[in-house]
Amino acid sequence: MINEKELVEQAISAKSKSIATYSNFHVGAALLTDDEKIILGANIENASYGLTICAERTAVFQALLDGKRKFKAIAIAGDSEEYLPPCGACRQILMEFCGKDLKVIMINAKGETKTLTMGDLLPHSFGQEFLK
Ligand code: THU
Repeated sequence: MINEKELVEQAISAKSKSIATYSNFHVGAALLTDDEKIILGANIENASYGLTICAERTAVFQALLDGKRKFKAIAIAGDSEEYLPPCGACRQILMEFCGKDLKVIMINAKGETKTLTMGDLLPHSFGQEFLK
């Protein structure tokens, strides 16, 4: 069983994979699958700034390409004083692919954590149920 401490450590270490050429704000993510695998992500920036992709989304997309479909938790680490929350775009993706019960472990620069669920972070969300 992977515990929260290990997931947090992996998210912090994933910051080193970040390519944050323009903001210099390095973010790491560690996504825990229901079969106890950890998939890492990091933000990747581009000279056309809007094409930047966040750490959370690189982790989710990597996991989906690996065939993973069920997730328990994601830990997100950056060098911010505040616990690092997922941006709005990432919340939409996390909600659709990981669900409202996903534990979102937000980490601050001191390595302290605050945990909420996706349901807490994105209430009244739009999803595929509207398209039926
Ligand atoms: N970023 C993330 O990767 N995840 C977040 O939760 C917040 C923001 C990235 C995007 C960009 O590369 C940099 O942080 C500054 O916004």
